[in-house]
Amino acid sequence: MENIVMLGGGGHCKSVIDAALRSKKFGKIYITDVNLKPGDNIFGCEVAGTDDVLPKLLADGVKNAFITVGFVKPSGLRSKLFFMAKDIGFSFPNIIDPSAVVSEHATLGTGIFVGKNAVINAGARIGDNVIINTGAIVDHDSVVGDFAHIAVGTKVCGEAKIGANALIGAGATVLQGVKIGNDAIIGAGSVALKDIGASCTAVGAPARILRRWN
Ligand SMILES: CC(C)(COP(=O)(O)OP(=O)(O)OC[C@H]1O[C@@H](n2cnc3c(N)ncnc32)[C@H](O)[C@@H]1OP(=O)(O)O)[C@@H](O)C(=O)NCCC(=O)NCCS
Repeated sequence: MENIVMLGGGGHCKSVIDAALRSKKFGKIYITDVNLKPGDNIFGCEVAGTDDVLPKLLADGVKNAFITVGFVKPSGLRSKLFFMAKDIGFSFPNIIDPSAVVSEHATLGTGIFVGKNAVINAGARIGDNVIINTGAIVDHDSVVGDFAHIAVGTKVCGEAKIGANALIGAGATVLQGVKIGNDAIIGAGSVALKDIGASCTAVGAPARILRRWN
């Protein structure tokens, strides 16, 4: 079993570590975080230090990394950490909780987290570093762009398309075939009945634009 380092030791990291432990696919698990002390641990997994220790971990044979910073608003932090760790030379496995149902007919990128009781149905295509969080459903033939976060309890219906870096908030629904643009935020509990463009926040049922940026 290969060792792995988790970048970011907050709440989302706990979900990812728990899934990684339950999957029994990894050996030793390390964590890097600016706010935790070296030698601390989360569920028995050692805090190795800040990201400065990543080259040494790689040299010591830790070949895998995972971005465990969650996000509730697109900030680019997850992608920044990913490209930094990729440049150092790490590989990015997927971490899928054993309770999740992932169709053999779905296509997965790398560095993806799939939480407890989440479902990815047949024909879905999930980009790199996506979070499919606890209890979320991504139904048949949907597409989810890189670094998107499909939050807890969300329903992405068949053939929907979620842009890169988008956040589909907790418990939201995106109806079949609806497209959500890159960097968009769909508010918690909202229902996207029609396409929502890029770089905006939309809330309510039906979801309407609250604000745009760029
Ligand atoms: C959509 C969201 C990002 C808006 O945050 P914000 O930009 O700080 O907006 P505000 O809180 O200032 O709210 C602005 C207005 O939108 C309304 N609003 C905010 N979120 C809403 C939502 N999810 N559904 C309906 N209305 C919402 C507010 O009531 C407020 O209305 P008002 O102007 O009439 O008082 C945030 O409320 C949200 O839903 N985030 C999702 C968090 C999430 O799901 N995280 C995942 C955890 S796994």
